[in-house]
Amino acid sequence: MSRFYLTTPLYYVNAEPHLGHAYTTVLADVLARYHRLMGDETLFLTGTDEHGQKVEQAAREAGLDPKAHVDAVSPRFAAAWEKLGIDYGFFIRTTMPEHEAVVARVLTDLWDRGEIYADEYAGWYDVSEERFYTEKELVDGMSPAGNEVEFIREKNYFFRMSKYQQALVDHIEANPTFIVPEKRANEVLGFLRQPLGDLCISRPKSRLAWGIPLPFDADYVCYVWFDALLNYYSALSFGFGEDKSDWWPADLHLIGKDILTTHAVYWPTMLMAAGLAPPRTILAHGWWLLGEQKMSKSRGNVVRPLDTMDLYGRDVLRYFLMREMTPGQDSNFSRELIVERNNTELSNDLGNALNRVVKLVEKHFGGRVPDRGAYGELERALAGVARETVDAVVAEIGRFHPNGAIQAVMNLSRAVNRYLEARSPWKAIKEEGGRELAGTCLYHAAEALRFVGVLLHPVMPDKCADLLRRLGQDPAPTGFADLLEWGRLEPGAPISAGEPLFPRYELETD
Ligand code: ME8
Ligand code: MG
Repeated sequence: MSRFYLTTPLYYVNAEPHLGHAYTTVLADVLARYHRLMGDETLFLTGTDEHGQKVEQAAREAGLDPKAHVDAVSPRFAAAWEKLGIDYGFFIRTTMPEHEAVVARVLTDLWDRGEIYADEYAGWYDVSEERFYTEKELVDGMSPAGNEVEFIREKNYFFRMSKYQQALVDHIEANPTFIVPEKRANEVLGFLRQPLGDLCISRPKSRLAWGIPLPFDADYVCYVWFDALLNYYSALSFGFGEDKSDWWPADLHLIGKDILTTHAVYWPTMLMAAGLAPPRTILAHGWWLLGEQKMSKSRGNVVRPLDTMDLYGRDVLRYFLMREMTPGQDSNFSRELIVERNNTELSNDLGNALNRVVKLVEKHFGGRVPDRGAYGELERALAGVARETVDAVVAEIGRFHPNGAIQAVMNLSRAVNRYLEARSPWKAIKEEGGRELAGTCLYHAAEALRFVGVLLHPVMPDKCADLLRRLGQDPAPTGFADLLEWGRLEPGAPISAGEPLFPRYELETD
């Protein structure tokens, strides 16, 4: 049994959770559930990023003091994840005293060892990104992202990030799965072709009071990113029961490509300075777009995930998010696309196969799984597809591609339909001596659907529990060990048909 520790970004509590946040969190949940089924001991961390200027500003706009504001907003993320069925191990908040203590300890250590120094600093400050730009980096007097900047001169504290530039380049080049997909690794390497400056890690309290105080200068608080990134490490020491610090390094940080530099440059160099290993993999996924534009709270063009969930149900939304996006590429979000995926894949391919099997078993076999019967060529072929599907799912999850895993399982569902058509148990049952043939066919089709139920369980926990229950199986699979052999489905197990598991949807015309 191996260990798998994965994380989502800590979302800012300056706005409500939107579909982009939901995507990363569902992706983490699905990967965590697969790893548990594959027998890995798994730690899954998510949470909220609660310090810094953005949050302070949001609190001011809400007319609250920052602490009251973060205490009000953070639980909304937890509540949304609850509704989406996110089974995380710990929800960290950067305002937790245990986290603040770890940040203070790391700062003290770096300061004592000269990895942090004080200097006079002047530069162009971008409030919305909370970072400085040099004159040269500005584009028409704005930040490269097009935000307004202001010129600021002040004493600050700096982390010797530049010292680790070459070590980071070497690490990226030696570890092709450190930053995925590859184009993001190349982007980071491109960025590292320019000299890397040192990182300003302080903010004067006069400008920003809402942060973790610097242990060596009471007039300053810690830069929000320096504080927030450390959560991935600090959580291990207090978030999961007994001290799990020996689980470091994390196996997987899931992030959107908007926060690649902080994760792939600041964070690993911070870790190197602290004498800790970089995370094993940083996966930067693409953006959900509405129309042609990134869905974002600053643009205001966001989809509230729970609204969509209310329309189509939790598991259909989870399925859509995982099926539609190839991690790394951008994807469009629309209700049309959800309805389309639901109707063609869940209703037609999977729902149809299940419906045919359970209805026929109910009608002709007294609602009991028929005998296995004799394995013919078609049965062996179907068993072969099922076994290959398990391998494909394991391989796709190994490269963090639930969409590939889902496609493999949908191929199996279509193979079940083709198998049913080839054997036509609905005809066989009416023919002389055809009952046994029909029973054998329904047995093997049901067995293949049991594979589907286990293999898609991490994506659609409720629907797959329901599917397995209809096949007379334990609704909670114990693991992929359940799929080691073909023919585990016990003849005589009670089958129930019920209402279609995956109803079709029409697009409302409003
Ligand atoms: O950046 N498509 O928090 P944040 C896909 N607090 N994913 C999206 C998205 C979209 N349109 N919009 C947002 C922060 N996301 C920092 C992180 S980590 C130590 C600190 C997701 O609230 C995606 O995961 O702005 C992105 O990286 C994250 O939300 C940004 O969330
Ligand atoms: Mg953001």
